[in-house]
Amino acid sequence: MSMRLDRLLSELGAASRSELRQIIRRGRVSVDGAVVTEPERRVDPEGSEIRLDGELLTYRRFRYFMMDKPAGVLSVTEDRKQKTVLDLLPPELKRLGLFPVGRLDKDTSGLLILTNDGDFAHRVISPKSGVEKRYQAEVEGVPDEADVKAFAEGLTLGDGTKCLPARLEITGTNICYVTVMEGKYHQVKRMLASRGKPVVSLRRLSVGALELGEALGPGGFRELEKNDLCKVLRDFTIGK
Ligand code: URA
Repeated sequence: MSMRLDRLLSELGAASRSELRQIIRRGRVSVDGAVVTEPERRVDPEGSEIRLDGELLTYRRFRYFMMDKPAGVLSVTEDRKQKTVLDLLPPELKRLGLFPVGRLDKDTSGLLILTNDGDFAHRVISPKSGVEKRYQAEVEGVPDEADVKAFAEGLTLGDGTKCLPARLEITGTNICYVTVMEGKYHQVKRMLASRGKPVVSLRRLSVGALELGEALGPGGFRELEKNDLCKVLRDFTIGK
């Protein structure tokens, strides 16, 4: 694979593409030890040693991040009117072509993975992969053992939609925990509503064994490394 030098540097988050053309023309970039001043020069991103002002840049085609999505923000890549999760990222990360892995409703908060690896996203979302998504729900009413049993058997929603068996953990209060392996439209809200326990607020706590924790805070994010990704998909290998 080869790509234009200015595009490669832009994907590395070095600067915007127009700024990069200037940077390259000024002789600040070297490829395999030789200064290159043509932004359109094609280079091999994985096989070449690329330096900006002498500093080595490492190309990674696929990138993965986790975010503590705040309520009130859309989990889409763009919207003309409303704020999206990508609006919470700095410009150099916005250029990477990231998208959310599945969706959280606007009013749902919690763990959202962002990546530019379509195969990874597909595997995390697909019920066939068996990746569990665990949510904390505040509901009206107090879920009980009958609800736990109904979740475990696989609920049928009001419109006839059948859900896979799911886990409901009750606490004896109006807070409960729901674990599902699929992501149908408004699934957790509809499951709890079908048991007469409408959701007041919803927060995703984990995807697979990757836990959100408290460290990021609303809108906070961090890059995921291989060990994090193996918690999501046990057999994770980059780009597969
Ligand atoms: N289930 C829902 O109902 N909403 C979400 O945002 C995620 C799961």
